[in-house]
Amino acid sequence: EDTRIKKIADTVSTYPDFPKPGILFRDIFPVLADPAVFNDLINVMVERVQASHPTPDVVVGLESRGFLFGTPLALALKVPFVPVRKKGKLPGEVKQVSFSLEYGTDIFEAQAGRIKAGQNVLIVDDLLATGGSMKAACELVTSMGGEVTLCLVCIELVDLKGRNKVEHPVDTILKF
Ligand code: PRP
Ligand code: MG
Repeated sequence: EDTRIKKIADTVSTYPDFPKPGILFRDIFPVLADPAVFNDLINVMVERVQASHPTPDVVVGLESRGFLFGTPLALALKVPFVPVRKKGKLPGEVKQVSFSLEYGTDIFEAQAGRIKAGQNVLIVDDLLATGGSMKAACELVTSMGGEVTLCLVCIELVDLKGRNKVEHPVDTILKF
Protein backbone atom coordinates (compact mmCIF):
# COMPACT_ATOMS: atom_id res chain seq x y z
CA GLU A 1 0.00 0.00 0.00
CA ASP A 2 2.06 2.91 1.29
CA THR A 3 5.43 2.66 -0.48
CA ARG A 4 6.91 4.98 2.15
CA ILE A 5 6.23 2.44 4.91
CA LYS A 6 7.80 -0.38 2.87
CA LYS A 7 10.89 1.76 2.37
CA ILE A 8 11.07 2.62 6.09
CA ALA A 9 10.71 -1.07 7.02
CA ASP A 10 13.45 -2.02 4.55
CA THR A 11 15.74 0.62 6.09
CA VAL A 12 15.46 -0.76 9.64
CA SER A 13 18.41 -3.13 10.22
CA THR A 14 18.06 -6.46 12.00
CA TYR A 15 20.78 -7.93 14.24
CA PRO A 16 20.44 -11.47 15.63
CA ASP A 17 21.71 -12.10 19.18
CA PHE A 18 22.02 -8.42 20.18
CA PRO A 19 22.37 -7.28 22.94
CA LYS A 20 22.27 -10.89 24.11
CA PRO A 21 21.73 -14.36 22.62
CA GLY A 22 18.22 -15.03 21.36
CA ILE A 23 17.25 -11.37 20.89
CA LEU A 24 16.53 -10.17 17.33
CA PHE A 25 17.41 -6.48 17.55
CA ARG A 26 15.68 -3.95 15.27
CA ASP A 27 17.93 -0.93 14.73
CA ILE A 28 16.05 2.23 13.73
CA PHE A 29 19.14 4.46 13.42
CA PRO A 30 19.65 3.69 9.68
CA VAL A 31 16.36 5.56 9.17
CA LEU A 32 17.87 8.67 10.77
CA ALA A 33 20.94 8.22 8.58
CA ASP A 34 18.79 8.68 5.45
CA PRO A 35 17.12 12.10 5.45
CA ALA A 36 14.55 11.17 2.78
CA VAL A 37 13.42 8.08 4.70
CA PHE A 38 13.46 9.93 8.04
CA ASN A 39 11.35 12.69 6.49
CA ASP A 40 8.89 10.09 5.18
CA LEU A 41 8.64 8.51 8.64
CA ILE A 42 7.90 11.83 10.32
CA ASN A 43 5.33 12.66 7.64
CA VAL A 44 3.61 9.28 8.12
CA MET A 45 3.56 9.88 11.89
CA VAL A 46 2.08 13.37 11.41
CA GLU A 47 -0.64 11.88 9.19
CA ARG A 48 -1.49 9.24 11.82
CA VAL A 49 -1.83 11.97 14.45
CA GLN A 50 -3.95 14.14 12.20
CA ALA A 51 -6.24 11.14 11.55
CA SER A 52 -6.68 10.62 15.32
CA HIS A 53 -9.17 12.51 17.47
CA PRO A 54 -8.87 14.70 19.33
CA THR A 55 -5.58 16.05 18.02
CA PRO A 56 -2.95 16.65 20.73
CA ASP A 57 -2.18 19.81 22.68
CA VAL A 58 1.17 18.39 23.81
CA VAL A 59 3.65 15.77 22.57
CA VAL A 60 5.44 13.71 25.21
CA GLY A 61 8.59 11.82 24.19
CA LEU A 62 10.20 9.02 26.21
CA GLU A 63 13.92 9.13 26.96
CA SER A 64 15.92 8.58 24.96
CA ARG A 65 14.93 7.28 21.57
CA GLY A 66 11.43 8.71 21.88
CA PHE A 67 13.03 12.17 21.77
CA LEU A 68 14.26 11.50 18.22
CA PHE A 69 10.72 11.19 16.88
CA GLY A 70 8.74 13.21 19.40
CA THR A 71 10.59 16.47 18.81
CA PRO A 72 10.20 16.67 15.00
CA LEU A 73 6.59 15.58 15.40
CA ALA A 74 5.86 18.32 17.96
CA LEU A 75 7.52 20.87 15.70
CA ALA A 76 5.48 19.74 12.68
CA LEU A 77 2.27 19.81 14.74
CA LYS A 78 3.22 23.19 16.23
CA VAL A 79 2.58 22.03 19.81
CA PRO A 80 4.90 21.88 22.85
CA PHE A 81 7.30 18.95 23.33
CA VAL A 82 7.61 17.61 26.88
CA PRO A 83 10.31 15.07 27.81
CA VAL A 84 9.74 12.12 30.12
CA ARG A 85 13.14 11.20 31.54
CA LYS A 86 14.67 8.53 33.73
CA LYS A 87 14.92 9.69 37.36
CA GLY A 88 17.31 12.41 38.43
CA LYS A 89 17.80 14.09 35.06
CA LEU A 90 15.18 16.87 35.22
CA PRO A 91 15.56 19.94 37.48
CA GLY A 92 12.87 21.55 39.62
CA GLU A 93 9.68 19.94 40.85
CA VAL A 94 8.97 16.65 39.11
CA LYS A 95 6.17 14.10 39.02
CA GLN A 96 7.21 10.44 39.12
CA VAL A 97 5.99 6.99 38.21
CA SER A 98 7.83 3.76 38.96
CA PHE A 99 7.65 0.72 36.72
CA SER A 100 9.11 -2.75 36.60
CA LEU A 101 11.80 -3.90 34.21
CA GLU A 102 13.13 -7.39 33.51
CA TYR A 103 15.30 -6.96 36.62
CA GLY A 104 14.24 -4.41 39.25
CA THR A 105 12.37 -1.17 38.76
CA ASP A 106 12.93 2.22 37.17
CA ILE A 107 11.37 5.65 37.58
CA PHE A 108 10.15 8.05 34.89
CA GLU A 109 9.84 11.75 35.64
CA ALA A 110 8.29 14.82 34.02
CA GLN A 111 8.53 18.43 35.14
CA ALA A 112 5.48 19.54 37.12
CA GLY A 113 3.24 21.93 35.22
CA ARG A 114 4.36 20.92 31.72
CA ILE A 115 1.09 19.08 31.26
CA LYS A 116 -2.02 20.96 32.29
CA ALA A 117 -5.29 19.43 33.47
CA GLY A 118 -7.46 18.40 30.55
CA GLN A 119 -4.79 18.68 27.86
CA ASN A 120 -4.83 16.05 25.14
CA VAL A 121 -1.48 14.29 25.10
CA LEU A 122 0.26 12.28 22.39
CA ILE A 123 3.00 9.98 23.74
CA VAL A 124 5.76 9.03 21.30
CA ASP A 125 8.42 6.34 21.48
CA ASP A 126 10.56 4.40 19.02
CA LEU A 127 9.66 0.88 20.10
CA LEU A 128 6.82 -1.01 21.77
CA ALA A 129 8.27 -4.19 23.27
CA THR A 130 6.69 -5.42 26.55
CA GLY A 131 4.75 -2.16 26.80
CA GLY A 132 6.06 -1.45 30.30
CA SER A 133 7.57 1.91 29.35
CA MET A 134 4.46 3.11 27.53
CA LYS A 135 2.13 1.92 30.30
CA ALA A 136 4.21 3.84 32.86
CA ALA A 137 4.28 6.97 30.70
CA CYS A 138 0.48 6.82 30.39
CA GLU A 139 0.18 6.59 34.17
CA LEU A 140 2.48 9.58 34.62
CA VAL A 141 0.61 11.74 32.12
CA THR A 142 -2.74 10.74 33.62
CA SER A 143 -1.51 11.52 37.15
CA MET A 144 -0.66 15.03 35.92
CA GLY A 145 -4.21 15.54 34.66
CA GLY A 146 -3.51 14.90 30.97
CA GLU A 147 -5.70 12.84 28.67
CA VAL A 148 -3.64 10.31 26.70
CA THR A 149 -5.33 10.44 23.31
CA LEU A 150 -2.76 8.40 21.37
CA CYS A 151 0.42 6.41 21.95
CA LEU A 152 2.36 6.48 18.67
CA VAL A 153 5.36 4.21 18.21
CA CYS A 154 7.61 3.56 15.20
CA ILE A 155 8.20 -0.19 15.73
CA GLU A 156 5.90 -2.73 17.42
CA LEU A 157 7.31 -6.13 18.37
CA VAL A 158 3.97 -7.86 17.96
CA ASP A 159 4.84 -11.19 19.65
CA LEU A 160 5.51 -9.40 22.96
CA LYS A 161 1.88 -8.18 23.07
CA GLY A 162 2.87 -4.85 24.64
CA ARG A 163 -0.25 -3.30 23.12
CA ASN A 164 -2.41 -5.31 25.53
CA LYS A 165 -0.70 -3.70 28.52
CA VAL A 166 -1.54 -0.15 27.43
CA GLU A 167 -5.02 1.09 28.32
CA HIS A 168 -5.05 3.90 25.76
CA PRO A 169 -5.15 3.93 21.94
CA VAL A 170 -1.93 2.64 20.39
CA ASP A 171 -0.82 3.15 16.79
CA THR A 172 2.40 1.79 15.32
CA ILE A 173 4.02 2.41 11.94
CA LEU A 174 5.98 -0.86 11.54
CA LYS A 175 5.07 -4.28 12.92
CA PHE A 176 7.73 -6.96 13.26
C1 PRP B 1 13.68 0.84 24.81
C2 PRP B 1 12.84 1.45 23.71
C3 PRP B 1 11.53 1.74 24.41
C4 PRP B 1 11.44 0.64 25.44
C5 PRP B 1 10.49 -0.43 24.98
O1 PRP B 1 14.23 1.90 25.58
O2 PRP B 1 13.45 2.64 23.22
O3 PRP B 1 11.58 2.99 25.08
O4 PRP B 1 12.77 0.07 25.58
O5 PRP B 1 10.47 -1.51 25.88
P1 PRP B 1 9.18 -1.94 26.67
O6 PRP B 1 8.01 -1.84 25.74
O7 PRP B 1 9.48 -3.36 27.03
O8 PRP B 1 9.07 -1.06 27.87
P2 PRP B 1 15.49 1.74 26.52
O9 PRP B 1 15.02 1.67 27.93
O10 PRP B 1 16.33 0.60 26.03
O11 PRP B 1 16.29 3.08 26.41
P3 PRP B 1 16.67 4.12 25.26
O12 PRP B 1 15.42 4.58 24.58
O13 PRP B 1 17.31 5.21 26.05
O14 PRP B 1 17.61 3.47 24.29
MG1 MG C 1 13.49 3.91 24.96
